[in-house]
Amino acid sequence: MGSFRDLIRWPLSVSLLVLLFLSTQCFCLINQHASNHKQLHALQVEVSTLLPPHAQYSCKPSPSPKGMKSKRGNSLEVRHRHGACGESRRPSHEEILEQDKARVESIKGRVKPKLVDTDRIRQKAVGLPAKPGSTVGSGNYIVTLGLGTPKKDLSLIFDTGSDFTWTQCAPCTKSCYKQKEPVFDPSASSTYSNVTCTSPLCSEVRAATSTDPGCSGSTCVYGIQYGDSSFSVGFFAKDTLSLGSDVDTVPNFLFGCGENNQGLFGGSAGLLGLGRNKFSAVSQTASKYGTYFSYCLPSKTTSTGHLTFGKGGTFAKEMKYTSLLSSSQGPSFYFVELQGISVGGNKLTISPTVFTTAGTVIDSGTVITRLPPDAYSALQGAFSKLMSNYPEAPALSILDTCYDFSSHATVTVPKISLLFSGGAELDLQLPGIFYVKDITQVCLAFAGNDDAGDVAILGNVQQLTFDVVYDVAAGKLGFGPGGCA
Ligand SMILES: *[C@@H]1O[C@H](CO)[C@@H](O)[C@H](O)[C@H]1NC(C)=O
Repeated sequence: MGSFRDLIRWPLSVSLLVLLFLSTQCFCLINQHASNHKQLHALQVEVSTLLPPHAQYSCKPSPSPKGMKSKRGNSLEVRHRHGACGESRRPSHEEILEQDKARVESIKGRVKPKLVDTDRIRQKAVGLPAKPGSTVGSGNYIVTLGLGTPKKDLSLIFDTGSDFTWTQCAPCTKSCYKQKEPVFDPSASSTYSNVTCTSPLCSEVRAATSTDPGCSGSTCVYGIQYGDSSFSVGFFAKDTLSLGSDVDTVPNFLFGCGENNQGLFGGSAGLLGLGRNKFSAVSQTASKYGTYFSYCLPSKTTSTGHLTFGKGGTFAKEMKYTSLLSSSQGPSFYFVELQGISVGGNKLTISPTVFTTAGTVIDSGTVITRLPPDAYSALQGAFSKLMSNYPEAPALSILDTCYDFSSHATVTVPKISLLFSGGAELDLQLPGIFYVKDITQVCLAFAGNDDAGDVAILGNVQQLTFDVVYDVAAGKLGFGPGGCA
């Protein structure tokens, strides 16, 4: 394994792995107390409710809200990856935020900056951290769906920032990491078939994996790598996918049957790609559900959210919509038009070009929202001014604005809203404002990009508890508060 690992060198490593294969054959768990506070532009928070996430970890998610099952037939329950029991060791907050940095670098590597500076791009590509077994690009939320006939349940990390769905497959000729459920065995499924090398689908797989496919016997071989040395290599295949409590089936679903997989994907069986490419789960289920899906990411590991294909999944009463754009800068990604930020009810003075220069993508797998440097410094300045009554705490990895609330019973926190084109506002709830290590280190859950040309990313901490609707066909993205707890 050691010498095998030595062969892994970015960016050639997956191609190499394909060749090798052929030769051998907030997440802040804050209970926001109902605050009928007089100040409309602030949230009053009882410090005792700012629990560190570990206090609420549980293997058993709470039961679904009443009516959920019937209303959300095409719905899958969403749980936080670190709340699932499959994972043997939970990463520290510092590790989670370091991994988040690596994911952001991999996204930047896949989104061409508008200001083309090739030296900078080259430097970034080389500078990617190569940590075996980390979770780069793997997102943080899992859903369980069925694969094969008879169907076998698999828990997959879902990821709006990538396209390709894969799962570890028996007999794991090279390597499989530890997963919660039994590894999918294609020989036990009557509906499984391989995609052949001569099929046009085989050559098209490159667009979804960024790696040239190979050929084993007559079977198409894919390889995909996630920024660092996490990867999956195996057969490009088709089988029946089963979704939701009503068990809706999608025949001939194209996915990767991974015989060589590395990375701590949190005990999950693989990855569900929800990007824009034709092989993503959104595109492949389009004839059934339209290119329409929604999710709610829970803020506590004890509660569940949902991922729903098709309409009718959301509980939020009021949805606000903005434009959802595609861009040749990054064809897999969902671009939105972030146009401004308000703090404590005041819109910050930020030149519109700050946002248009970089563009913004929404991503389910990035934890902390990354803003253009000028936008972040404006937000940080306004927020820290309004928080100047509270003692500061040391930075937590990428989070530079932290507070020690241990000597306070309640704190008053300015509201933060993200303003999008079309007048849509994302009025952040507490889980979207603070990342809590413990009450002595409560940090503003935003970070700035280093470079004004780097794409901004709307991360999952800011999406917590909102129903987020991707109406891809209509080019709209919606936010609604109160989608889940
Ligand atoms: C799929 O292809 C692989 C490699 O050629 C082969 O070992 C396996 O038996 C094939 N499975 C089916 C169901 O054809």
